[in-house]
Amino acid sequence: MNFRFGVDYYPEHWPEDRWETDVRLMAEMGLTVVRLAEFAWQKMEPAEGRYDFGWLDRILDILDRHGLKAVLGTPSASPPAWLVEAHPDILPMDSQGRRMSFGGRHHDCQSNPDYRVHVERMVSAMANAFGHDSRVTGWQIDNELGNSHHELCHCAHCRRAFQKWLENLYGNIDTVNGSWGTVFWSQTYDRFEQIPTPALTATAHNPSLLLDWKRFHSDLIIDFLESQVRVIRSAAKDQFVTHNFMGLFDVVDYFKLARSLDFVSHDQYPFGFWEPKQSPAGLAEALDLMAGLKHKTFWVMEQQAGITGWQTMSESPRPGQLALWAAQSVAHGADAVVFFRWRTCTVGTEQFWHGILPHNGMPGRRYDELKGLIRGLGPLMPRFEGALSDADVGILYSYEQNWAFEIQPHHPELNYVSYVQGIYQSFHERNTPVDFLPPEADFGGYKIIVAPLLFVELPGLAQRLSEFARQGGILVLTMRSGVKDQANVCQTERPLPGIFGDLTGIEILDYDCLRFRHVPVERNGQAFIAKLWWDVVNLRGAEAWASGSGGGHAGEPAITRNPYGAGKVWYVGSCPDEGLMKAFCKALTEEAGVDPLGPHVPGIELSRRRAADRDYLFVLNHSEETKAPLVDPSWTRLIGRDLIAPFDFQVYERPKRP
Ligand code: GAL
Repeated sequence: MNFRFGVDYYPEHWPEDRWETDVRLMAEMGLTVVRLAEFAWQKMEPAEGRYDFGWLDRILDILDRHGLKAVLGTPSASPPAWLVEAHPDILPMDSQGRRMSFGGRHHDCQSNPDYRVHVERMVSAMANAFGHDSRVTGWQIDNELGNSHHELCHCAHCRRAFQKWLENLYGNIDTVNGSWGTVFWSQTYDRFEQIPTPALTATAHNPSLLLDWKRFHSDLIIDFLESQVRVIRSAAKDQFVTHNFMGLFDVVDYFKLARSLDFVSHDQYPFGFWEPKQSPAGLAEALDLMAGLKHKTFWVMEQQAGITGWQTMSESPRPGQLALWAAQSVAHGADAVVFFRWRTCTVGTEQFWHGILPHNGMPGRRYDELKGLIRGLGPLMPRFEGALSDADVGILYSYEQNWAFEIQPHHPELNYVSYVQGIYQSFHERNTPVDFLPPEADFGGYKIIVAPLLFVELPGLAQRLSEFARQGGILVLTMRSGVKDQANVCQTERPLPGIFGDLTGIEILDYDCLRFRHVPVERNGQAFIAKLWWDVVNLRGAEAWASGSGGGHAGEPAITRNPYGAGKVWYVGSCPDEGLMKAFCKALTEEAGVDPLGPHVPGIELSRRRAADRDYLFVLNHSEETKAPLVDPSWTRLIGRDLIAPFDFQVYERPKRP
């Protein structure tokens, strides 16, 4: 596939006599692909059954004349007013039973049967019109599924769909009662029809119901996507199907959402709405998770191209920073980068989410900077197309654990995503590539597997992890593992860490939620801190690698190591501070013989793509200081200067080494 850089374009926002100029400027910049139409339902179907693809046809022609291809978005994120008027219960209902209003976007309920019919009708009209069109290279389904559905819909259709989903899973109501423990607070159900969605109640819902609700909603969104994928695939020829994901977003199991797609796309906004700003490691983590979803290179379908903002705005990206971020995406496995958006919009909610061009449409600093990037990096990209980092370290990422901790975080500051982030960050800082793996992954081929917070049992996982360690792998397990069964009920068969007891060579008979205090930890005379949680660990064959030195837990193991088969199993019984995590990561990688890509230099990120016979190394300077060269002479520089200026980067190549 020959696309390296592209842009998200909304021709419907601009007078038609401007289109030619826009596309000419895109072509001059080196862009070769444009995403269109993902919010243009009303323009494509102004009234039920009256399709108007004429304008789309005209812009596709202009793009084609300038050598650009299109990705068409299916418009199910923006049902038009006429459709909502005809079927008002398309609008989602919140947990207090309030119908949301038309306006904004994603004002839709994905289990609404009328909505599903209209979506499939619309998508098939588009697919019939453009599925064989050589001007169109692929499709994006909907837009950021799950976004705006954070408060999941509670309407009657959703409730019925949830009950059906439960019936499929449990078979009969007695099994639900038994599995969930509905005897607690007299919640025993006689029939599936009595089971509520977790709508507003006087006190909290049953955690088993809550976890199943999150699983159900994830499945619903996946089903919504797959129904559209089927329609497109039945009409399209030689066109790919993708969807734009949102990094560490939590509403859908992204591994499952990715299954029916040709490849994953991702939206990368370093300066989005987030406070504080995302760190380079945080950005890298999102990209690595995207690469992990199908263990495959991906597209960035929306890469930040200017100041972000709706009602309030981000600061301006510094000169070089937009190009650096795009290069970072490529460094972590993006085979194509599509910038959001072409021209800053003058109307609507996103007037201040800036594009490559400012409001006035005149190319300026951002245009020139990205044009320079495309000219430099574009020609090299075919050399490592399809190549990932080839990591020795795998982090097991489980949406179900994430949801279970959202339901019961234990400590108000404990959350799955930031716990994983702490682990990722320490590898990132050591310049050690990491793969994210789904719980069903094949662990063979990795030297280290980190499987954090395995709170809720996942079928067959404990056995496969044991096998990994038995065969010589280094496995890391953490606090709150082996606590619950699949229904989110506390297991009673074994002391903690439950099914992981033999593997870890420890037993936990007591624990301490560290509200308002930390536990000092000592390792080889160095002082660190454990936060949020403390497992009182008894050694049953394992050795203590670091121990508490106060805070009521002096002398108790903080991190343990257990020989298991030909491998080792480590256990981390708390949330280590950055220093402890770093020291631990160093010990782990040294034990496993995993070498970093290069020395750690503050502000510098190293990332690798490993092609069939050559390695490519990206040196990215995220800091405001000029940095001295830091790679060894075995590498040949393809891009960049000797000294690395602030927000600049280098790319190197060398023959692959084992
Ligand atoms: C993304 C979304 C785009 C646009 C952008 C800026 O999340 O996919 O459609 O809204 O944010 O707000």
